[in-house]
Amino acid sequence: MNTIKHTPAMGWNSWNTFSEKIDEELLRSSADAIVSLGLRDAGYEYVVIDDCWSLKRRGSKGDLVADPAKFPSGMKALADYIHGKGLKFGIYSCAGTRTCADYPASFEHEFQDAETFASWGVDYLKYDYCFKPAGIPGNVLYRRMNAALRNCGRPILFSACNWGADNVYEWIRTTGAHSFRSTGDIQDNWTSVEKLFKSQIGKEPYTGAYCHSDLDMLIVGMKGRSENSWIALGGCTDEEYRTHFSLWAIYGSPLMIGCDIRNMSDATKETLMNKDVIAINQDAECRGAYCVPQWNNPEQAMTMVKPLSDGGYALCMVNFGDAPSQVSVQFWDIGLTSSQHKGLSLYDCWSHEDIGAFADGYADTIAPHACRLFRGKVVDI
Ligand code: GAL
Repeated sequence: MNTIKHTPAMGWNSWNTFSEKIDEELLRSSADAIVSLGLRDAGYEYVVIDDCWSLKRRGSKGDLVADPAKFPSGMKALADYIHGKGLKFGIYSCAGTRTCADYPASFEHEFQDAETFASWGVDYLKYDYCFKPAGIPGNVLYRRMNAALRNCGRPILFSACNWGADNVYEWIRTTGAHSFRSTGDIQDNWTSVEKLFKSQIGKEPYTGAYCHSDLDMLIVGMKGRSENSWIALGGCTDEEYRTHFSLWAIYGSPLMIGCDIRNMSDATKETLMNKDVIAINQDAECRGAYCVPQWNNPEQAMTMVKPLSDGGYALCMVNFGDAPSQVSVQFWDIGLTSSQHKGLSLYDCWSHEDIGAFADGYADTIAPHACRLFRGKVVDI
């Protein structure tokens, strides 16, 4: 029985901040923080260990072995701890012969590894693409792991990660994956947010229920802190993190926190736990957001529009540029005509207030790297 929810996954992943420096204490204390800070109740449920958790060689029976220096109590005990907190446990492997950080990967071990994961109590598998045999198509490798996961006796969310390579959009849904990384690796700076997000504009038809386009783990709250100097590069302002979170949410990306949740500022908590933004991300129909470019500044200013299951829309007016820009959305671009007396009443998801009903459109001047995120309800005007 498939008990995996059809909306984007939410949780925390160790990679952005900790990379190779992971151990069971980090995982346990992060799970504790998810619960005590209210993140679990806000919807974050998966606690995921990324690369570098195993020994460099498989065991005598060909099994993956958790590194006893990092995980002395073993993976089953860690999973039990995480489950005891009302959370779910995720792990990482790769479709190639080695993982990206050069640990054993699952090529030709798919069924064996899925059984190992199930015996540990794993609920989520991130599945990477490094060291992929050139002669075997990616869709075959993801279908293989899907077959293994679907038959291991435990529901395991299958999170594919091939960075948008090999036209993944065209085949990923057929593999059974629940999400697919559509972008390369994120870095903790605004340039990276802009580059990753813009690379997915126009590709919103490919995301949807049970197979979400994954724009990569969130950098919200990292503030340049990471064991990985390539990711740490720069940091963002709180405003930039809000824009990043708004964009990932409206696009329907999984929301996997990447900062150290044990040391979050109030601003970071407020961003990550904004219920109105999360509700847009978790909307039951899971439609992707399309882009309405600003007519006089189309490269930098735009409104992303996501049709919602209640008949309304989420609208994210964003300015990627370095100078303030006008952003205006004409409602006829989203299907509403004032000649037929239809307009939108707008609720601001960051100030948490209704700002009124509008007939033909809405315009504002948006600060650099900022956005406004609305929930719009169709009204008679
Ligand atoms: C990359 C992947 C990252 C992280 C890393 C681990 O390929 O995109 O998210 O998992 O491998 O080595």
